[in-house]
Amino acid sequence: MILDKLVIASNNQGKIVEIRQMLEPYGVEVFSAGELGLPDVEETETTFEGNARLKADTLCRLSKLPCLADDSGLCVNALGGRPGVYSARYAPDRNWVKGMEMLLAELKASGSDDRTAYFECVLAFAMPNVDTKVFSGRVDGVITKKMSGPGGFGYDPIFQPDGFDKTFGNFTAADKAEVSHRGRAFEKFIKEVLVGE
Ligand code: IMP
Repeated sequence: MILDKLVIASNNQGKIVEIRQMLEPYGVEVFSAGELGLPDVEETETTFEGNARLKADTLCRLSKLPCLADDSGLCVNALGGRPGVYSARYAPDRNWVKGMEMLLAELKASGSDDRTAYFECVLAFAMPNVDTKVFSGRVDGVITKKMSGPGGFGYDPIFQPDGFDKTFGNFTAADKAEVSHRGRAFEKFIKEVLVGE
């Protein structure tokens, strides 16, 4: 499919930067919701898929343009999968450093030695008069004991993906996309929607 304009149902700059970079080779011009004067859609669902569909469908209806929503989060096994869908709201005022400090303290207080965690990403792609499509990706890893690395966004400085000895905070955007939850979900979206395999 030739997709020249795509609205991303988010104003999270970290996500937008990664998404722009992943779609650039396909000639897709990416706009954040805010750039087109579209509202932030409140996440009222309890699953990544529910929220992704809600955001993509709502903005597609309002803009009449193809819309892609990315709902994602960090699930920590010793915390029963939290913060999960509430990852953005877990950090007070979206202050990621505070959020990471809180998460490290909560994990310590849990008394568990289990530091395993995963990032999950669900993409919902909505177009006018077409059924919405959903793609997901996941990356497993561990929560490190302290923050490391200037790169990425959100919880990247405390997440070390399996098979690596550095956190996502120390990855370049291109290297992160090779293994990340978002990169894996986008790989499926690109194959099915953009190159039509
Ligand atoms: P939402 O999808 O807008 O609800 O926000 C997802 C939240 O999960 C982000 O604000 C981050 O806190 C976290 N998150 C999602 N993906 C990543 C990632 O790739 N790195 C670090 N944090 C992430």
